[in-house]
Amino acid sequence: MNFTMNEFFQKHPNIRYLYFGGKGGVGKTVVAGATALWFSKQGKKTLLASTNPVHSLSNLLEQNVFGKPVSVKGSPNLHASEIDTSETIERSKKDIKNKIAWFLKFADIPTKAEDFVESATMNPAFEESAMFENMINIIFEDEYEVYVFDTAPTANARRLLGMSKVYALWVNKMHKSREEARQIRLSLSFRKKKPEDEQDALLDYLTTFRDRIDKMRGLLTDEEKTAFFFVTLLESLPIAVIKRFIGWFKDFGIPIGGVIVNEAIDKSEVNENTAEFIRNRVAMQEKYREEVIQSFDNFCGEAPLFEKEVKGLAMVERVTNAIFAQD
Ligand SMILES: Nc1ncnc2c1ncn2[C@@H]1O[C@H](COP(=O)(O)OP(=O)(O)OP(=O)(O)O)[C@@H](O)[C@H]1O
Ligand SMILES: [Mg+2]
Repeated sequence: MNFTMNEFFQKHPNIRYLYFGGKGGVGKTVVAGATALWFSKQGKKTLLASTNPVHSLSNLLEQNVFGKPVSVKGSPNLHASEIDTSETIERSKKDIKNKIAWFLKFADIPTKAEDFVESATMNPAFEESAMFENMINIIFEDEYEVYVFDTAPTANARRLLGMSKVYALWVNKMHKSREEARQIRLSLSFRKKKPEDEQDALLDYLTTFRDRIDKMRGLLTDEEKTAFFFVTLLESLPIAVIKRFIGWFKDFGIPIGGVIVNEAIDKSEVNENTAEFIRNRVAMQEKYREEVIQSFDNFCGEAPLFEKEVKGLAMVERVTNAIFAQD
């Protein structure tokens, strides 16, 4: 390993936003839960939030945490929440409908907003975007010291960062041309109106939106506050997936915390009497651990394959103890 999780967080004392990404089923939820538990034990008020539409935190914690943040039983400082997608989507649909209606009115286009809403919200990326919006809301509410997000919104983070640059250019241009138009309107007007009397709702909206995106981009790329971790098994596909993710993230300047290996078979349990099937898997894992070491310079934790699934706080704590070195 290149460093430990403890060392990483010692070096980043102001860290607040943690994300866990990786291929399906590799243990993102489990490792996110274990990390959130560690922070709560450090005395930090921590929120473990799932942005994955297929939720699994309630199952992990054996407690219903759907819809709103709930205090986790048996663990002071730890709160958990599965974000309710359906509610977010309904809200976003309404929001979009209002905006379209308002825009059509503004642009003097005699069409009903409904015609557009359906096509806008049938987009497969809509649910993902609604989730992302919700995550931003939780962050801006600023109620917790540390936020651990189960499932990194990989595609969205990428899109947001790309979009924010284009968007800033666009809004600034809009600003300029609307300002010019307003000046002309004022100079042609006989009424004596002070410039600041003129409300410009569209421009206000665009400016607010730009500032929100800018703020989020600022947080997402702030390596003091944010880190993306990637979970992998010692297998070919999950390693390939995170290689790709890490490449993208580097290109976009999103800070990468490290790579965590999950479900490694404990070699000390294996001898010549062990079933061939298991010995083969151990040999395979050895090979892929070499690949992890060669490919990543931030391999920072490893959890063993346990004798049973990770369910309930006691099991989560075993994962915490595995990926965080003991004091
Ligand atoms: N180290 C481990 N030992 C034993 N079982 C594990 C271990 N890590 C994860 N599991 C089990 O593997 C399954 C998948 O883990 P988890 O739900 O955390 O994966 P995930 O990456 O979040 O999946 P998804 O992509 O569906 O969200 C769960 O049943 C979990 O209990
Ligand atoms: Mg999961």
